Amino acid sequence: MAYYYWVTVVVAFVVTSIIGSTQLLIRGRGRWKEEKARVPPGSLGLPFIGHTLGLVRTIRGNRVDEFFRDRINRYGAVSKLSLFGKPTALLAGPAGNKFVFFNHSLVLGRVASLPHILGERSLLAVQGDDHRRIRGALMAFLGPEMLRMYVGRIDSEVRQHLEERWAGRTAVAVHPLMKRLTFDIITALVLGNDDKGSPVRDALDRDLVNIFEGAMSAPVNLPFTAYRRSILGSRRARVMLQEMMRQKKARMQEGKASPNDDLLCRLLSMTDEHGQQLLSNEEIVDNTLATVIGAHGSLAALVTFMVRQLAEDPDTLAKMVEEHEEIVKNKAPGEALVWEDLSKMTFTWRVAQETLRLVPPVFGSSRVALHDMDYKGYCIPKGWQVFWVADVTHRDPGIFPDPAKFDPSRFDTRNKTMPACSFAAFGARMF
Ligand code: HEM
Ligand SMILES: *[C@@H]1O[C@H](CO)[C@@H](O)[C@H](O)[C@H]1NC(C)=O
Ligand SMILES: *[C@@H]1O[C@H](CO)[C@@H](O)[C@H](O)[C@H]1NC(C)=O
Repeated sequence: MAYYYWVTVVVAFVVTSIIGSTQLLIRGRGRWKEEKARVPPGSLGLPFIGHTLGLVRTIRGNRVDEFFRDRINRYGAVSKLSLFGKPTALLAGPAGNKFVFFNHSLVLGRVASLPHILGERSLLAVQGDDHRRIRGALMAFLGPEMLRMYVGRIDSEVRQHLEERWAGRTAVAVHPLMKRLTFDIITALVLGNDDKGSPVRDALDRDLVNIFEGAMSAPVNLPFTAYRRSILGSRRARVMLQEMMRQKKARMQEGKASPNDDLLCRLLSMTDEHGQQLLSNEEIVDNTLATVIGAHGSLAALVTFMVRQLAEDPDTLAKMVEEHEEIVKNKAPGEALVWEDLSKMTFTWRVAQETLRLVPPVFGSSRVALHDMDYKGYCIPKGWQVFWVADVTHRDPGIFPDPAKFDPSRFDTRNKTMPACSFAAFGARMF
């Protein structure tokens, strides 16, 4: 199986890269020669295959930070390599993060395998006006007023989960439970709760596992690969979501559901200046799925590592409990949390941030350069991928002294001195 896997990986990369590289040669030959001297240091690796196999191997071995750290130690804060069949500039440090997050000449690209998995119309696959329109619609849902409305629903999911799956046990496996909990929370917000616990929901949960594993593996669409299972899982999930959307639409027309019920209802009821549905049905399905996938995996990772930290760190645990008891004191037994309570959990949030610093759930991601770009005196040619990574910056002793130490007070606003974009766990979004 392992042998078969690597053979298919090699074959597929050879094929896709030949096509990619030939285009690049035809389009860019003259320019390449001129700019070659100015492109960042590093190597583009073996022709066609580049460094992708190395990256995929470290992702599977959970050592992806080593892969990037190696190159950054060798070549510095900007270097070149070749990933997924494309020449790539790897940037490190706050300045690099800032460049990737905020330069409008860098756009989310269609180079990675994600559009095939998440759908052609997901936020991560579309550009320009379409990107702005879809992002605007999602952000309206994720804004503070909406979250304020949903705190109660999240609270009730958490309580039910703790009662059903934690209470009375002496040992639990945290990560599977947290995946379950974050799945229940996110689907409650995104799809509503009218069919919670139904076989459809469970099937979706199973498909998400496939989708996620495929997104983290080599994009080889052949029988028996993780990537193929992922594509098939995504197709099934989208058919399910289409059906759910159709039912929601009908319920809204009958007045049995309202726009504020969940993300699906909300997106279905948003209209443009002509009174037309703002997002197409396909866009709604693709972005609903993308939100569930993106949100549920990274949240589960965060909460799991927080629990591990608290299990090993009685001081942090005691301070967190103290903060929570202060809030509980002013509540009736069983009374749900409200938005104002969350804003009092400043220490808890610092523990979360420090956990995200040490174990960022998203290791980094890429953009594509729309033009030739200048960065620190180097040229990043048009069409190159530009990659940012969180971990290397998060463990830079110049920014986070004694970087391996877990110290939530680093995020205390009173003594926060880190440069902008040093903490990159959420990418460009500053919460
Ligand atoms: C610990 C939890 C989370 C982490 C670490 C995380 C991390 C990230 C990162 C790194 C990006 C940016 C990728 C890039 O710029 O290349 C991103 C984008 C995004 N995330 Fe999350 N995320 C988390 C939770 C959530 C949740 C709960 C939701 C929604 C319910 C969500 C929705 C989104 C959306 C819609 C985008 C794209 C936004 C844009 O283009 O600006 N995320 N996330
Ligand atoms: C984007 O990068 C280019 C360098 O290629 C620079 O001239 C421009 O000012 C940058 N824009 C922003 C908004 O930082
Ligand atoms: C931040 O301030 C706290 C006091 O609020 C102090 O105990 C801690 O050592 C400081 N941490 C850093 C990293 O400067």
